[in-house]
Amino acid sequence: MRTLVVSSNLVDPLSTRLRGILRARVDEHGPAVAEYDDVENHLACAPVDVLVVVLSPDPERGLEALRQARRATTGYVLAVGQASESKLILRALHEGADHYLDEAELEAALDSALSKLQSKQDGGGPAGRLIAVLAAAGGSGASTLAVNMATILAKDHDKCGLIDLKPGRGDLAALLDLKPSFHLADLCVNVGRLDQAMFEKALIRHSSGIHLLASPQVFADTRLVSPQGVSQILTWARRLFSYVVVDLEDCFHEEQVMALRQASAVVLVSRLDFTSLRNTRRILEHLDQRGIPRSSVRLVVNRHGQPNELPAGDVEEALGGKLAHYIPDDPKTINGANNTGIPAVLKSPSARVSLAIGQLARTVLERRRASPTVAAKVAW
Ligand SMILES: Nc1ncnc2c1ncn2[C@@H]1O[C@H](COP(=O)(O)OP(=O)(O)OP(=O)(O)O)[C@@H](O)[C@H]1O
Ligand SMILES: [Mg+2]
Repeated sequence: MRTLVVSSNLVDPLSTRLRGILRARVDEHGPAVAEYDDVENHLACAPVDVLVVVLSPDPERGLEALRQARRATTGYVLAVGQASESKLILRALHEGADHYLDEAELEAALDSALSKLQSKQDGGGPAGRLIAVLAAAGGSGASTLAVNMATILAKDHDKCGLIDLKPGRGDLAALLDLKPSFHLADLCVNVGRLDQAMFEKALIRHSSGIHLLASPQVFADTRLVSPQGVSQILTWARRLFSYVVVDLEDCFHEEQVMALRQASAVVLVSRLDFTSLRNTRRILEHLDQRGIPRSSVRLVVNRHGQPNELPAGDVEEALGGKLAHYIPDDPKTINGANNTGIPAVLKSPSARVSLAIGQLARTVLERRRASPTVAAKVAW
C-alpha cells in the first residue's frame, strides 16, 4: 500500500510515530512524507492509497492541506487530531476526511481505520430495541411522550438513545433544555465517512442518561437528511444503546419508514377526537401496506379525560383493535415541565400523567398477541 504522511513538522514525535506504525502495518517501504504546502505537488507526481494529515499543532493549515488533498486524490484520507475537539472533527469530515483518528490513541485508531479500509465490513448486528413514536395528528403529544419515555428508560437502564426524526420541526432538544452542536443532517451528509465512535460524539448527553441526536433547526438543512443516512444512524444507535426512542415526522417518507421497519414497538399517539381517530385508521392501513407488523403497534390515547371525547369502546370498534394505554390530560404538569425543559417524569414524578407514561415506557416492549388487522367494521 502506498501511504503519505502530511504534517507541518515531519520530525515531530506524532508524525514520526505515525510513520513507524504505517511502515509496520501496511507500507513496508515506509510512507512518503510531505509538508502542508507540498501536498498537491506530491500527489500530482506520486498517487497514494492512504494519506494521513496530522492536524496538530496547526489545525487551520492542516484543514487547508486536507482540502487540497481531497481534491487531488481518490485515496483514503485520514485526519489525526485531538478527540476532544468536536468542531475540528466535524470540519475535518466536511473537508473530506474519511475518518478522524484520536492522536492520543493513534495505534488503535489507525488499526481500526485500516481494517475498515481493507474489509469495508461493518460487522456485528444491531442489538438495541427501537421504539418509534408517531403522532396521529399534529400536537397529539408524541414529542412529550418520546422525551418522557426515554427519560424513564435511561433511569431504568442507565442510558437511552433518543433521535429526533422531525427535520426542521424537532422539539426534543428544547424539551430537554439542550443545545446540541451537531444534528441529524450533519451526520447524514458525512455518513460514508463516519464510524460509530464519531456518531457517539455527535450525541448530546442529558443528565437523565438520555443521549440525544437532535434534528436540524435550519429549514434548508432538512433536505440533507437521507434514508441511507438515517438507516446507518439507527444501526449505530442500536449498537450503542439497549433502548432507542425515535420521534417520527410521519409514516410515509422513506427515512421515516426506515425507523418504522427497525422498530420493536410503534407507539401511535392519538386523542379521542374525530380527526385524530380518522388519521389513526389511515396510518394503520398504511403500516399494514408497508409490512409493518400490526403486533408491533401500540395505540396510545393521550390527553385522556377531556370533555366530549369520543367513547373509547366506539373507537376500538372503529379501529378493530385495542387501545393499549391512556395518558391523562394534565396541562398543569405537562406545560410546567415542557416549558421549563425538564421532563414531567423528573419534575413531577408522582403526578398521574407521569406514572402513566412510566408504565407505558416499561411495558411497551412486552410481547402482545397480534391485534386483528383493520377491519372495515365502521366506515369513516
Ligand atoms: N398528557 C398531556 N396533558 C396535557 N397536555 C399535553 C399532554 N401531552 C402533551 N400535551 C401538550 O400538547 C401540546 C403538544 O405536545 P407535543 O409537542 O408533545 O405534541 P407533538 O405530537 O409532538 O406535536 P408536533 O406535531 O408539533 O410534533 C403541548 O402543548 C404539550 O404541552
Ligand atoms: Mg413533536
